[in-house]
Amino acid sequence: MLATRSITEEILDLKKERRAILLAHHYQESEIQELADCIGDSLELSRRARDFEGDVIAFCGVWFMAETAKILNPHRTVVVPDREAGCSLVDCAPLEQIRAYRGRYPDHAIVSYINTSAEVKAESDILCTSRNAVAVVNSIPPEKTILFVPDINLGNYVKQKTGRENIRVWQGACVVHATFSGRRLAAVKAQHPHALIAAHPECPRETLLMADFIGSTSAIIDWCVGHPAEEFIVVTESGVLHSLKERAPHKRFHFVANELCNCSECPYMKRNTLEKLRDCLLHLEPKVELSGDLIARALVPLERMLAVK
Ligand code: 13P
Ligand code: SF4
Repeated sequence: MLATRSITEEILDLKKERRAILLAHHYQESEIQELADCIGDSLELSRRARDFEGDVIAFCGVWFMAETAKILNPHRTVVVPDREAGCSLVDCAPLEQIRAYRGRYPDHAIVSYINTSAEVKAESDILCTSRNAVAVVNSIPPEKTILFVPDINLGNYVKQKTGRENIRVWQGACVVHATFSGRRLAAVKAQHPHALIAAHPECPRETLLMADFIGSTSAIIDWCVGHPAEEFIVVTESGVLHSLKERAPHKRFHFVANELCNCSECPYMKRNTLEKLRDCLLHLEPKVELSGDLIARALVPLERMLAVK
């Protein structure tokens, strides 16, 4: 009888053949995270995409993250398991509206969250992620008016942390984090009164006010692992449980269900599967394709962000 190779073996063989690196965001399914060369938040994955040897990046995350990897690696092939792995925040910031704003207020600085399209990045002065948004805004001269695009909750959080009044905040939202309401969090806290709360800054203001810690996905994981407490309510996508369980198996973690599906999962991130990962390595599709001009323009604000410490 012929032994059939498992899908994991197929992926690992293809990875070698293609000289590929597998990058996975914390919100990917556990079986994908297990195969990854690097698991991280959007800033860590951007940095990793910049510093690697090989020909192909298989980006297990959402499309805007893979576009970022392509901007940093114009001569490498960047594939994503599912082309429909989008992001509600990207959809909230259409290029025409950003261009119209730029035309109207040419002297304002546009700070775009990395969760934007490559075209919107190219119209921006600097980019940021949830990890460095406060530092990025602080790097801009205080007298300059800022448009923060597109997440309303992260924008308001940055405004409060920097104490700057001259920040205008776009009205976009993440379909996952925006639904982690204070009411739902209070219900989970009532069930686990001793648990500490760690939240992602894309959550609504009333939720962030209840948090003991606010940070990016990796920062939340590091904080929960390093803190002496044993029990946490984690207010972000439940994919982070993979690293939390691995790094702190004795601790307890609770999640807040969102209003869409009674779970804490990003429907875009979860489109990627092992089968689709195998197929994208096999066919080198779906592949990110951006024009040279777009890459050159989007690289400027991206490199400005990467230079911020
Ligand atoms: P991080 O920057 O924390 O990885 O967040 C990305 C994201 O899409 C959060 O929903
Ligand atoms: Fe976009 Fe929200 Fe999904 Fe992150 S969790 S990729 S912000 S929809």
